[in-house]
Amino acid sequence: MFATRQITSLAQRSFSTSASSNAAKVAVLGAAGGIGQPLSLLLKQSSLISHLSLYDIVNTPGVAADLSHINTDSKVTGHIPKDDGLKEALTGCDVVVIPAGVPRKPGMTRDDLFNTNASIVRDLAVACAEHCPKAHVLVIANPVNSTVPIVAEVFQKAGVFDPKKLFGVTTLDVVRASRFVSEVKKVSTEDAKITVIGGHSGVTIVPLLSQSGHSFTEEEVKALTKRIQFGGDEVVQAKNGTGSATLSMAFAGARFTNSLLEATVAGKKGVVEPTFVKSDIFAAQGVEYFATNVELGAQGVEKIHAVGKVNAYEQTLIDAAIPELKSNIAKGKAFINKA
Ligand code: NAD
Ligand code: LMR
Repeated sequence: MFATRQITSLAQRSFSTSASSNAAKVAVLGAAGGIGQPLSLLLKQSSLISHLSLYDIVNTPGVAADLSHINTDSKVTGHIPKDDGLKEALTGCDVVVIPAGVPRKPGMTRDDLFNTNASIVRDLAVACAEHCPKAHVLVIANPVNSTVPIVAEVFQKAGVFDPKKLFGVTTLDVVRASRFVSEVKKVSTEDAKITVIGGHSGVTIVPLLSQSGHSFTEEEVKALTKRIQFGGDEVVQAKNGTGSATLSMAFAGARFTNSLLEATVAGKKGVVEPTFVKSDIFAAQGVEYFATNVELGAQGVEKIHAVGKVNAYEQTLIDAAIPELKSNIAKGKAFINKA
């Protein structure tokens, strides 16, 4: 265990060049992709990572060679399926981040990605359950509302599921919410901390603007809520068929990974991030996974925060999210449990 001063200094140095002594092995699966490359670049700057292990079906040797010249202390290795590459990439991992999978094109919903991405995530989860069953698994691949249950079911079947260690990465929703509110209220993003709960698609993304400490007109609430719920579509349309958010997602994914490492490696207390996890909050209504703010600790999920006070408008948003979430979660579970 670390003394408080050491903890603080480790956390402050989490983006410095020298690796801390108990730093982690972190794998990025899908590391040659639009998110994978900038995410890996950002993670190469973390002193809480000793070994950055990059896996993709193509191109990771090149990405790894390139990143390995950056003079921070972590080792970088690149792996492809050849020569048991996935096993090599995963063995000994403390954290696995999964941005592998296809992105949307204009006109598609995230659920339209299910047919392709469900099997990609399932196969990667099977490998994680075998080669690094104790690793924290961070799922970026869409549709997150279904891919998280897919990973859970795979781990469950392998007898290694620990709900404290499985996270759907919803950080981009709060990153966007913060930025959009800061523009409307003309304040620093530091003063625009927005709680977003639910899931990661359209109406399942539920911003709780009433908890922000700012006041909004009814028009502003409606416009901001819509923009936060459908921020991903803005990027998909602007990229015009070439993909979805990659750079902002890499930023958000690095923020979440780093927060988890601060809690698990550096022993920092009070680290809170929103994330889609196995949760009792709406379990009575049949929703097994739900995103809220979660305190991260040495073992992963330390404490799931309550939703808190919501107003009537936000309650209608929650009511709309629940059936969609239930169906997305059931679809993921059924994919693994089908005969
Ligand atoms: P991309 O196509 O640029 O990259 C995906 C990478 O995955 C490619 O390099 C591809 O080779 C790799 N890949 C495919 N099958 C694989 C397998 N079996 N094993 C390992 N790697 C494999 O796509 P992208 O823009 O990086 O997006 C990736 C995923 O992230 C998409 O599903 C997208 O919808 C999702 N996404 C999620 C969020 C979020 O907030 N959670 C945000 C943005 C994008
Ligand atoms: C996002 O929110 O940007 C991602 O989920 C990608 C997408 O498909 O919109």
